Amino acid sequence: MSRHTHLATALLCIGLMAMSTACGTGRHSTGTPDNWVTITNGQLWLTPEGDTVQAHAPGFLRQGNTWYMVGEDRGKEYNPDVNLYSSTDLQTWHFVKKIIRNGVTSPDLGTKRMIERAKILYNAKTKRYVVWCHWEASNYGASEAACFSSDRIDGDYRLEWSGRPMGIKSRDCNVFVDNDGTAYFIATTEENQHLGLFRLSDNYLSAAAHTQLFPGQQREAPAIVRLGNRYFMFSSACTGWAPNQCKLSWTDDLHRGWSDLEPIGDSKAFRTQPAAILEIRGTRATTYLYVGDRWKDPTLAETKTIMFPVTFTDTSCDFQYRDSFQINFKTGEWREKR
Ligand code: GAL
Repeated sequence: MSRHTHLATALLCIGLMAMSTACGTGRHSTGTPDNWVTITNGQLWLTPEGDTVQAHAPGFLRQGNTWYMVGEDRGKEYNPDVNLYSSTDLQTWHFVKKIIRNGVTSPDLGTKRMIERAKILYNAKTKRYVVWCHWEASNYGASEAACFSSDRIDGDYRLEWSGRPMGIKSRDCNVFVDNDGTAYFIATTEENQHLGLFRLSDNYLSAAAHTQLFPGQQREAPAIVRLGNRYFMFSSACTGWAPNQCKLSWTDDLHRGWSDLEPIGDSKAFRTQPAAILEIRGTRATTYLYVGDRWKDPTLAETKTIMFPVTFTDTSCDFQYRDSFQINFKTGEWREKR
């Protein structure tokens, strides 16, 4: 393609994006002039260039109108790198950068690590981007975490720390940032027995305090969201790649008082495992989107990222899969597909 053709294509894309938020996506995103974007589940996400989006067990960070997503690049199946993508509609994902290269970003830690569930945070005090992940050996015996940071979201991430947080064996994980900026790393601890809530240091680079939650209840894939003064958590049982019942728990104090685990949705979480809960706050409403992985569909690299709106009540949640739905990023509303 000549430079002029590139320019013409780019201008055409910008023009089309004004009307429709999709431009060449493999996800059939169909934004309309009134700002409704259709999200369709069950298919592989493709970048505008036609590459499969490799960011499994994703973590998200929103900056302005841009969503950033980090996740496992399962192109290499068991020794993933971590990729970074960006999007303005959660549908058209642009590849930004491979931010962690297995065996390259931290050569001293070897090339055989399984980097799972990478999650990204922004620390407003230090102005650094921080990535926490599960940093595992091939037999899951290491039970370690790792933390990387960079001064730019698409910069050079350096290893800050790896090991067992506060000496505690740690596997499946997520992060959560509270309204006051306090960040937590939450991980399945001590041979998948409990969940460990680790309050991070002010710079988010190390674990500073530990509270054990759900002792002996063998939960993993935790995802937390705060609504008002209440915290809700989705989690799954520990059944490897096979999906299982998603359960909900809530509390008004992150460190204690979590309600009994309540089964929600169908018995297999609609063939997913939780990765994140996104908040879409608009001029008229706030919609919460569940994000889960449909692992090995059928291969690890073809794992699908599934999203659907969930509605929280005081103590429960309507958790209902939809093949497709529409979301309005301006008003924050969602509706059935029209
Ligand atoms: C799942 C876990 C994944 C991965 C997998 C390996 O239970 O959520 O992140 O660790 O097991 O079998």
